[in-house]
This record gives sequence, C-alpha cells and structure tokens, in this order.
Amino acid sequence: MLIRPAADIRPSEITDHAVYLDRRRFLAVGAALGTVLAAGKGMAATSDDAPTPFEAVTTYNNYYEFGTAKEDPAVTAPGRLKVSPWSVTVDGECGRPGTIGLEDLIKPVTQEDRLYRLRCVEGWSMVIPWQGVPLAAVLKRFEPNSKAKYVEFTTLADKAQMPGIRVAVLDWPYVEGLRLDEAMHPLTLLATGLYGQALLPQNGAPLRLVVPWKYGFKSIKSIVRIRFSETQPLNSWQKANRREYGFYSNVNPEVDHPRWSQASERRIGEFRRRKTLMFNGYADQVAGLYAGMDLRADY
Ligand code: MTE
Repeated sequence: MLIRPAADIRPSEITDHAVYLDRRRFLAVGAALGTVLAAGKGMAATSDDAPTPFEAVTTYNNYYEFGTAKEDPAVTAPGRLKVSPWSVTVDGECGRPGTIGLEDLIKPVTQEDRLYRLRCVEGWSMVIPWQGVPLAAVLKRFEPNSKAKYVEFTTLADKAQMPGIRVAVLDWPYVEGLRLDEAMHPLTLLATGLYGQALLPQNGAPLRLVVPWKYGFKSIKSIVRIRFSETQPLNSWQKANRREYGFYSNVNPEVDHPRWSQASERRIGEFRRRKTLMFNGYADQVAGLYAGMDLRADY
C-alpha cells in the first residue's frame, strides 16, 4: 500500500475494469443485494452507498501474503490457502484461554449482515455487504480480565500456502491491534462472508476483522490468533514505518499520510473523487471513543 497510493494508479486500471464489471455483474449484483437488504439488520451505510460489484470486491485486493499487486490475491490465494479445518488460539489476559475450531468460535453468535464502507489508506474505497458476528460477543466468552486493555490479532503465516511471505515486504506474520473498547464496539465485525457467500481466500477467508471507521489495513485477514494484552500491540504497518502508520489509523480527512492527502477518495467503479468523511462517515457512532484525544498525535 505504501507502494502505490491511488494517485499513482492509472485511472484506466480502475475505471475500465469497473465499467466492464458493472455491465457484466449488474443483474447478479442486484439480485445478491436484494437478498442482503431483505435480511435488513445491522445496515450501517447511507443511501449514497451502492455496493461495489462482487467481482471488484473479489479481484481488487490487498493481501500481501499473496503478492503486492491488486490482482495477485485473487489469482494466487484460491487453491493455495487451506481454509478448513481452521482454528483460532485466544490467549493472554483472559480467564478462559484456548484453541477453538472456527465453527465453535462463531456458532453460538447470531450472524448479521452489515453494509460497510471500506476506505483504504491508499485513497480508494468500496462498499461491501458483509456477513459475520459482532466481535464483542465472541471476545466476551473468553472472559477478558482487568488487565486486558488491548486486543492483538495475527494472520496465518505459512510459506507453503502464501508465496508472498517469501518476500520481506512486512515482518510476517501480519499483526493488527485494537483498544479493548474499539474491539467491543458494536460496529466491529468478525466477518465470515460477503455478498451472502463464504469469504473467498483473497478477502481473508475464513475469518477476518472489519473495522469500518479505520483504514482498511486494520481489517486483518485469515486470523489464527487473538490475544488480550495490557500493552498496546505494535501492528505490522507501524513496525514497517512508524512515521507513516500509527496504532489508531482512524479515517481522518484532516490528517494526511506523509506521502499523500487523505482529503478525498476514489470509490472503485466511479470516475469522480469523493470527499473522505471523518471516521469514514461513522463519527456519530464512534467519535466518543476518542473524546479528549489529539487525533494528529494519535494517528
Ligand atoms: N490482512 C493481511 N493479513 N494482509 C494484508 O496484506 N491488507 C489490508 C487488509 N488486511 C492485508 C490485510 C489492507 S491494506 C486492506 S485495504 C484490506 O485488507 C483489503 O481488504 P480486501 O482485499 O478484502 O478489500
């Protein structure tokens, strides 16, 4: 993501593709969306947010474990990433640590539909209809103790399955973190599907985080470990470049990335640039989490 800010991407790479996708996927997307909207619960987007076509969501990806080009993950991850069986280790500051199969982790919690905007720090955005479970409901079962102030997430790192990790773009495994109250916020989702079907490998199957008010890199894919900690986790992008990437990474049009502006974004499939909204448009729900904080210092 550091490599190609949106300003550097040739418009034809996005628009030609998107126009093509729009024509081809129009009916299918409409049908899928009808199903999602009929489910009706947990929607958190505005009427201005038409879902990004399924094909764009599943072919224009950032998943560096499968290569750094946007088209790499859709080509490289399917057939290589073994998503079943899958288990997650939950440990650290909690009363009931353990390793648990994916089914047992999510089954007790009711699945929900969430139509969320995703804003990448590179300056592009999408609108994605996710299915998943609120992270809070999952975390509570492990009984975080009074020392648990943060939650750290780790992606699988397996050279045999992930050709991208032979290249030292990041210090693998990919790690992300949230403050406990951010993790427990009702908007924070552990996603298992999108567009009504199981997550595809390129989107972070079988289990990924979705934190819609933060830059997309906080939404870590293919999670194998969740750890409660007393101290603030160091996420992979911070580790790679602390000046450019912070812990909070809240979408903020007033605080630019050192190498590019964050004031506007290109919605995949559109020609115009849109103004980026504070907290990606979720300020009403989440601004209170940061009351009294200097968001320039805590970027
Ligand atoms: N998670 C892992 N493990 N590896 C990654 O490279 N990329 C992040 C995030 N999660 C990434 C990751 C970035 S930069 C973005 S914008 C989103 O995934 C993209 O999600 P998508 O490809 O499903 O749209």
